[in-house]
Amino acid sequence: MKRVFSGIQPTGSLHLGNYLGALKRFVAMQDDHECIYCIVDLHALTMPHDPAGLAGATREAAAGFLASGLDPERCVVFNQSRCPMHTRLGWMLACLTPLGWLNRMTQFKEKAGKKRDGASLGLYGYPVLQAADILGYRATHVPVGEDQKQHLELSRDIAGAFNRRFGVDFFPLPEPVIAGEATRVMSLRDGARKMSKSDESDYARINLTDDRDTIARKVRKARTDSEPGVTWDPEARPEASNLVAIYAALADTTRQAVVDEYASARFSDFKARLAELAVEKLGPVGEEMKRLAADPAYVDGVLADGARRAHAIAGPIQAEAEEIVGLLAP
Ligand code: TYM
Repeated sequence: MKRVFSGIQPTGSLHLGNYLGALKRFVAMQDDHECIYCIVDLHALTMPHDPAGLAGATREAAAGFLASGLDPERCVVFNQSRCPMHTRLGWMLACLTPLGWLNRMTQFKEKAGKKRDGASLGLYGYPVLQAADILGYRATHVPVGEDQKQHLELSRDIAGAFNRRFGVDFFPLPEPVIAGEATRVMSLRDGARKMSKSDESDYARINLTDDRDTIARKVRKARTDSEPGVTWDPEARPEASNLVAIYAALADTTRQAVVDEYASARFSDFKARLAELAVEKLGPVGEEMKRLAADPAYVDGVLADGARRAHAIAGPIQAEAEEIVGLLAP
């Protein structure tokens, strides 16, 4: 049986990269897989955060999940801190994970910066908690953007380490699903940087909460080069190619089809068409998020129900894992 798990942090607002790299894929998988989607609020503690804003950010992320098309009847939507397995299994896996594996993690290096000794143990162990998120449901498939590839490889290594250490075939090795035409959406201001929640410039990203005018303005103002036509060449034309990938992903087509369609168009006309497409696809998501923001009781109800269902799946797996390591008598 295929079981899908994935997570998104409730830090900053959800943006187009989260939408195309993750949420749109989550939605595509809910019809024919058992899907569990998590707002990873424990991971949000690994960087300085505002305690007064965290629960609200979790709620807003949940609204973003629902507004993107996730159906809480068909998939489990919940926040990580409400299911006790994550931290318990996280500890058990931490005790099997060599430091050498964590030392290779590029996201830790980026986030810790130069002051590595001042970084927290939580930030260092972040990918172990991520492995617990996935393995605690014995998930087989994990839809993510390209930037999570290394963390997913580590999750597979940790699953293998557990199975070998205890001589069992307990955790399946989870498969990353890095699919679609925009698995790495770049900043709208700088084609060499990933679109991210932490970019100082709001014009670098399209937030899912942006209204239609803002979406159109950000696309129109997106940086491009002086080449007149529409081509796909991420090395020579990173900004233009990023817009081609975004167009393809939003239109559910391929980059090649976009380049063919606009072969004789001017880049400015292509951009105007992309602005329309982005408004058409993302406008309703933002509007639904706004509607859900006015109904927090509904969103909280979805999360509470999701937590109950998540715990019902993870509880027995956790108990079995505790038996395997010897914490619980069989
Ligand atoms: P996070 O919150 O940074 O991002 C959530 C998802 O969005 C994808 N993504 C992007 N995809 C394409 N282009 C971009 N510019 C872009 N920015 C973000 C990410 O690849 C991710 O799929 N560690 C994870 C959260 C996590 C998780 C998990 C994921 C915790 N436990 C278990 C999968 C399974 C993270 O920080 O994602």
